[in-house]
Amino acid sequence: MSETLRLGVNIDHVATIRNARGIAHPDPIRAARMAAEAGADGITAHLREDRRHISDQDIERLSEQIDLPLNLEMAATQEMLAIALRHRPHAACIVPEKRREITTEGGLDAHGGANHLRRYVDTLGQAGIRVSLFVDPEPIQLEAALRLGAPVVELHTGCYADAEPGTWKVELERLRAAAALAEGMGLECHAGHGLSYDNVSPVAAIPNLRELNIGHFLIGEAIFGGLDSAIKRMRSLMDKARAEASGSRSA
Ligand code: PXP
Repeated sequence: MSETLRLGVNIDHVATIRNARGIAHPDPIRAARMAAEAGADGITAHLREDRRHISDQDIERLSEQIDLPLNLEMAATQEMLAIALRHRPHAACIVPEKRREITTEGGLDAHGGANHLRRYVDTLGQAGIRVSLFVDPEPIQLEAALRLGAPVVELHTGCYADAEPGTWKVELERLRAAAALAEGMGLECHAGHGLSYDNVSPVAAIPNLRELNIGHFLIGEAIFGGLDSAIKRMRSLMDKARAEASGSRSA
């Protein structure tokens, strides 16, 4: 049987709503606490260069007040490195960042950017922070992550989530092949971006994945039915897909 699949809940967009008013409500740390109670395995937060959602103080409070492992998403910049070293989160996921993008569009170019990334991977790793690289599901990127010495890759599931009805299976196959390749190379493999109740099951069924990071859909869904219920439903869809896939492999 494949190992259980962890769920990292990304709370960025609780901060997006808070910042729309410039007051303290809704508080992303309260959301992180609720996520822990609802069965999340970790909390993910992206401190963007422009601080459009999560703030420096949020990272400080998450580090001090939340017991779940914190996965800090960060660009490979000197400023973010200093913040990561100050708070020492459980994990740091290095993501590409463009100021004008709405969300993280596309994976990191670990192959082309290896010379720049090496110092970040090394320094974070030496500080005991588990480094992950957010990459597209392409062999060249996985090989680059391995050469850089990153222990984890997170596959960008955006192309799968945004695919037209005729192409989603091709995108799913790319994810499946990349996850198998990553695990075969000894990399721990995670995935995330654009996952929802409708599209999570085929991804959760990929046996080589160890963690999914999900944010926007869960926070949006929380408006209608509450965060607790959104997380529990996502968890149950993931667990069901995992159990069914494991059952059909052993049958
Ligand atoms: N993983 C990474 C590395 C991300 O940057 C994000 C947010 O863009 C997510 C997962 C979660 O994506 P979403 O908010 O679409 O669920």
